[in-house]
Amino acid sequence: MAERRRPAGQGAESPAWLTRRGLLSGGALAAAATVTGGAPAGAAATSSPPGAAATGSPPGAAATGGPAGAGPASGGTSGPAGGAVEPFHGPHQAGVATPPQAHAVFVAFDLRKGVDREALARMMRLLTDDARRLTQGRPALADTEPELAALPARLSVTFGFGPRFFDAAGVAEHRPGSVAALPAFAIDRLQPRWSGGDLLVQICSDDPLTVTHTLRMIVKDARAFGRVRWTQRGFRRAAHSQPGGMTQRNVMGQLDGTVNPVPGTADFDRAVWIADGPLRGGTTLVLRRIRAELETWDAADTVAKEFTVGRRLSDGAPLTGRYERDAPDLDRLTPAGFPVISEFAHIRRAHVADPALRILRRVYNYDEGVAADGTADAGLLFASYQADVARQFVPIQRRLAEADLLNEWTTPIGSAVFAVPPGCGPDGWIGQTLLA
Ligand code: HEM
Repeated sequence: MAERRRPAGQGAESPAWLTRRGLLSGGALAAAATVTGGAPAGAAATSSPPGAAATGSPPGAAATGGPAGAGPASGGTSGPAGGAVEPFHGPHQAGVATPPQAHAVFVAFDLRKGVDREALARMMRLLTDDARRLTQGRPALADTEPELAALPARLSVTFGFGPRFFDAAGVAEHRPGSVAALPAFAIDRLQPRWSGGDLLVQICSDDPLTVTHTLRMIVKDARAFGRVRWTQRGFRRAAHSQPGGMTQRNVMGQLDGTVNPVPGTADFDRAVWIADGPLRGGTTLVLRRIRAELETWDAADTVAKEFTVGRRLSDGAPLTGRYERDAPDLDRLTPAGFPVISEFAHIRRAHVADPALRILRRVYNYDEGVAADGTADAGLLFASYQADVARQFVPIQRRLAEADLLNEWTTPIGSAVFAVPPGCGPDGWIGQTLLA
């Protein structure tokens, strides 16, 4: 098959997106709109991409890619995308398999003393109602600026429960063992102001004003039950900057998100969703705030940068391949007998052979400005979703902490772990399976 034309310096087009775009431009759009219900007039209903077929890939392409590489639902359409709606109801919460929106804020709360199971149930009913309305383009019940709810722009609101939430609710026996502080890693320089938390709300939208409004509504309703511990804002490329399905670059300039479970596949379901118990259909989230040392990274040359990751900067292809989605050849040696992809390259250290043990990376950039001396305060909000933190995330992080060339230029400064409960139906609420 002839290579698909793509803008210079961009990643491969995701097969998942091809399917998705087909859906959106076809008659399925009308049907999808009916399913979501309550969408504002003119809203385009979207949903997670169905199983991806490895179509349109260059020779040797692996069927990888997925949400972290997927583009905006609105890409390729001509009209304004503010009315686009992500479904709220379903077996899983939105915001995990959902192709990443351009803007995100993660907010964590510490529960107030005395907040018990009954209060938590009340809180989650309230917050679910807010999320249900706002994601569909309708104002929250006590919305003080209802006009701001009109353009959800693929808004998703996702809830997560930290370790202490389970204690406060009196359901400690249902806390997955690894929903706890991660083991300490030698590379960590964790700051309490970016770490921990009892309740997480992840708010993502293609419109930053929608994110701000939603955050305000959620905080207003949650503050009787908890105090804000931290907020972390992240961004990806603007919704229309590049064709949907292109892998995006991070603040370090790398194409980030190539190898990722593909929504709609059995491998994705096994890797991401919890299979049984009251959290069945849920997942876990590890959020790491990782500072990028851009000053020294800027001083490295292209060869060093590519050697560090094991992929080319220009097109994201592995150093042993031609195309971004070519499988890396970890056995290939240079004429001098050294591995082409270093023993300490990021993709070798991070690689997981068993698809059921992979993690879903849904990464945002952060940029908190520039210090007086010109140093950037920027990096990644590294959001990783997996069925089991101990079996999936921790072994990868351990290998990276032991020996990853990238450690020279990256520093974890925040860390938090949450259980993300399953989704709910129109009469239900998030957390019901634990708290009711
Ligand atoms: C600032 C920190 C980081 C940066 C800049 C970064 C960047 C990258 C890049 C450029 C790739 C190659 C393209 C791709 O497949 O996405 C990659 C792959 C990957 N990274 Fe990271 N990464 C970071 C931190 C982490 C952390 C903390 C983990 C997990 C603990 C991780 C896990 C992975 C995995 C699983 C892959 C795919 C490996 C494979 O080819 O099988 N990364 N990362």
